[in-house]
Amino acid sequence: MLLPIRYSLSIFADMKREITKTADGSTTIYIPEMDENYHSHHGAIQEARHVFIKHGLESLVQEDITVFEMGFGTGLNALLTLEFARRQKKQVRYLGLEAYPVESEMIEKLNYLEGIGKEFRNDFEAMHKAAWDQTIAIHELELTKIHQKIEEFQPKIDSIDIIYFDAFGPRAQSDMWELPVLEKMATMLKPGGILVTYCAQGQFKRHLKSLGFEIERLPGPPGKREMTRATMLA
Ligand SMILES: C[S@@+](CC[C@H](N)C(=O)[O-])C[C@H]1O[C@@H](n2cnc3c(N)ncnc32)[C@H](O)[C@@H]1O
Repeated sequence: MLLPIRYSLSIFADMKREITKTADGSTTIYIPEMDENYHSHHGAIQEARHVFIKHGLESLVQEDITVFEMGFGTGLNALLTLEFARRQKKQVRYLGLEAYPVESEMIEKLNYLEGIGKEFRNDFEAMHKAAWDQTIAIHELELTKIHQKIEEFQPKIDSIDIIYFDAFGPRAQSDMWELPVLEKMATMLKPGGILVTYCAQGQFKRHLKSLGFEIERLPGPPGKREMTRATMLA
């Protein structure tokens, strides 16, 4: 049975999670009670590469980049970021916020190394073994996983170049797409910094505009018409 549209996050934390396969062959996590996936069923790796790497990281020119991820989850975006940093010879500081870490037994069942490259095995393991709220170096990536709810997180002003806004969708987790959370995103971005997300909902974009963002509607990954890139005006 599907739950009604709004429910508390503490209930969500206890929900059963399952591994499923998406259309590009890569796995994701599915929460049956919410009928919500961690990634697009059209392709987890494909979506993450398109939204966060191609239309996110690749649009930045600086050599040293600070990323904030809203929802660290499986670590897929961190892994793709490391792949990008290695290819482009860049250094990335990566802050991944996560309130409900994925259990290691589930992480072991994800097949991202098959799609991205087995040479990243030690790096992916290091990401997941890393202690919460401590900073570790994984080659080109300086990773800090923050175990906290966004509602309690105190962002550092003007400290972030790019936000991967990868919360559950507005249908499942509407609070994430409303002003109190989005104000935190605006506060932590440097002038000219960007927020990228798979979501293209109208109300969400109007909220961003009201916070001083300039909005770009970009083609979405396969299976989705549009995505959003928002730039914090100076
Ligand atoms: C759509 S999933 C994406 C996860 C991740 N980016 C990935 O690729 O696996 C959203 C993530 O946000 C986390 N999350 C949900 N509510 C949160 C909150 N209030 N504060 C911090 N993280 C939250 C979930 O636990 C989940 O890992």
